[in-house]
Amino acid sequence: MKLALVGATGLVGSTMLTILEERGFPVTELLPVASEQSAGKTIRFRNEDCRVLTAAEAMGQKPQLALFSAGGSVSLELAPQFAAIGCRVIDNSSAWRMDPTKKLVVPEINGEVLTADDLIIANPNCSTIQMVMVLHPLHQRYGIKRVVVSTYQSVTGTGQKAVAAMYAQRAGQPGEGVYPHPIDLNLLPHIDVFGDNGYTKEEMKLVQETGKIMGDNHIRVTATTVRVPVLGGHSESLNIELTTEFDEAELRALLAQSPGLVVQDNPQANAYPMPLYAAGKDEVFVGRIRRDASQLNTLNCWVVADNLRKGAATNAVQIAEQLLAKGWLSGS
Ligand SMILES: NC(=O)c1ccc[n+]([C@@H]2O[C@H](COP(=O)([O-])OP(=O)(O)OC[C@H]3O[C@@H](n4cnc5c(N)ncnc54)[C@H](OP(=O)(O)O)[C@@H]3O)[C@@H](O)[C@H]2O)c1
Repeated sequence: MKLALVGATGLVGSTMLTILEERGFPVTELLPVASEQSAGKTIRFRNEDCRVLTAAEAMGQKPQLALFSAGGSVSLELAPQFAAIGCRVIDNSSAWRMDPTKKLVVPEINGEVLTADDLIIANPNCSTIQMVMVLHPLHQRYGIKRVVVSTYQSVTGTGQKAVAAMYAQRAGQPGEGVYPHPIDLNLLPHIDVFGDNGYTKEEMKLVQETGKIMGDNHIRVTATTVRVPVLGGHSESLNIELTTEFDEAELRALLAQSPGLVVQDNPQANAYPMPLYAAGKDEVFVGRIRRDASQLNTLNCWVVADNLRKGAATNAVQIAEQLLAKGWLSGS
């Protein structure tokens, strides 16, 4: 299969390359695409150098599948052009997520919504994916009324310039102005732009995408998103109000048997999820599971995942695997 990777030189794009290799996705020809600044560069895939192409060059090769991670404006412009030549697009940006004509998919949760007609498919926001991986089994079993989420998000979520800026600041230099304030030895209660309601766009993604993925807009979600000087993954504190009583042991067992989730919860042994150890892993880790003593039918937990993997590249490749299994990648 000819596969175009738009944003191949970025953090998500390079993670995609690793995951395509790891999972043995059947790529016969890789068509890496990046911005004009990357013209002439090569990237490594399966021990071979591949020349970075322009989007027009890649489209000229008629790929069956394109994985996009090059930002919203690139997706808005180029995804319809790839779709117009019959190429399926799986897009990591926020461009199409809330478009009612596009599916927003986490395969473990709502993979069944995909049909043969879906040409542009949206990958949810990284912080949403890891949250709904925990909410979904709880909602199915107990019903969820309300979620209060506070995030502690890795600089890798902003892309490679942010990682470089953090290291530069650590070395005593100003670092490129990716954020409005220094990030090293600091944290910023500010991810993406502020809206008129006082919430950031990142916070509203958690609110809106959750209802769409879980197929239930009655779940109330309120969010505070924070950027922290951390690599490896995003962390989230969740306070979840259920509609019914729950038994703590049963709830833990339910999470432990949910595909893609790992319960890591032994406080006596200092065992709980941390971004340093979630890095490079595909699973979503959940721990610090405990009853909220201040409110009935409510629990607290702590959720960590590698935002570049399950929060982006792994989820996109899982969607691609589903399309492949259905025989919807023409020529596959
Ligand atoms: N980082 C995460 O955890 C995460 C999670 C979920 C979703 N996402 C989304 O994924 C996208 C990429 O994120 P990232 O962290 O990988 O960013 P990044 O490290 O800054 O990489 C951006 C990529 O886009 C390419 N690009 C920029 N302008 C382009 C253009 N006009 N045409 C073609 N390619 C272009 C860049 O190429 P050059 O190298 O040539 O500049 C680079 O390959 C964003 O939409 C982001 O919101 C990121």
